[in-house]
Amino acid sequence: MLVPGNPHQELAAEFRGIKRPLVANLVSGAGAALPGSNLIVVTSAVPGEGKTFCAINLALSMAAEVDKTVLLVDADVLKPSVASRLGIEARAGLLDLLANPAIDLSDVLLKTNIPKFTVLPAGKPRADSAELLAGGHMKQLFDELAQRYPDRIIIVDAPPLLPTTEARTLATRAGQVVMIVDAGSTSQGVLTEAFGTIKDCKNVMSILNRRSGILRNYGNGYGYGD
Ligand SMILES: Nc1ncnc2c1ncn2[C@@H]1O[C@H](COP(=O)(O)OP(=O)(O)O)[C@@H](O)[C@H]1O
Ligand SMILES: [Mg+2]
Repeated sequence: MLVPGNPHQELAAEFRGIKRPLVANLVSGAGAALPGSNLIVVTSAVPGEGKTFCAINLALSMAAEVDKTVLLVDADVLKPSVASRLGIEARAGLLDLLANPAIDLSDVLLKTNIPKFTVLPAGKPRADSAELLAGGHMKQLFDELAQRYPDRIIIVDAPPLLPTTEARTLATRAGQVVMIVDAGSTSQGVLTEAFGTIKDCKNVMSILNRRSGILRNYGNGYGYGD
C-alpha cells in the first residue's frame, strides 16, 4: 500500500498515472468540474479483481499528492476489508449511519495518521444491508458527501457488479466510475456483461489490474512520462 514513506516506486508511479484522468475531471471544462465528479465509485465485474487494493492505493495516492482531503468509503458491506487491510479497528460505519438517523457522519468517520486521509468503514453487518445501500438514505448521504464537501474526494470501494445489484445503484449515483479488470482472469463475456449493467453511467474508466508479460513493458516501466 502507498503509505507515506513507502518504498514502492513502481506502484506509486502506476497510481500517479491512474489518478491523473480522474483528477482532471475534477477541474475539467472551463474550470467547471463534472457534476459530482468528486464522488468516485470503484467496482468490478466479480469479486477478487482488486477493487479494495486499487481503491486504497488510489485514495492514498490522491491524499499524498492532490490538494484535497480524501474520504475512502467501504461500501462492499458483505465483504468489507478496507479497515482490516489498513489495520484499523472499526466499530461502527456506513451501515450504522444508514440504519440509524441518530448517528451523525462525524461519529463514524475515522481519521487516520495519514494527512488528509479519512475512512468511513462498512459498519456492523446487517441482514438488510442490500436494501440500505440501494435506499434513499444512501442517495442522501452520497449527495451530502459530494455537495457539502466539494473540496473532498470521496472514493467508494463498492461491491462487484454481477453478483448483486447494489453496485449498479451506487455507480449510477457517482460522478466517476472506475472498473477494475483482472487481466489474468476476467473473460471478455463477463466484462461485457458488467459494462452493460452500468451503460447509463456517463463517466466510466477502467484499470487493467495485475497485467504482466508483454503488456507490462508498455506501461510506466517503458520510460515515457512517469
Ligand atoms: N495489483 C495488485 N498487486 C498486488 N496485489 C494485488 C493487486 N490487486 C489485488 N491484489 C491482492 O489480491 C487480493 C484480492 O484483491 P482485493 O482488492 O481484495 O479484491 P476485491 O476488493 O475486488 O475483492 C488481495 O489480497 C489484494 O491485496
Ligand atoms: Mg474488496
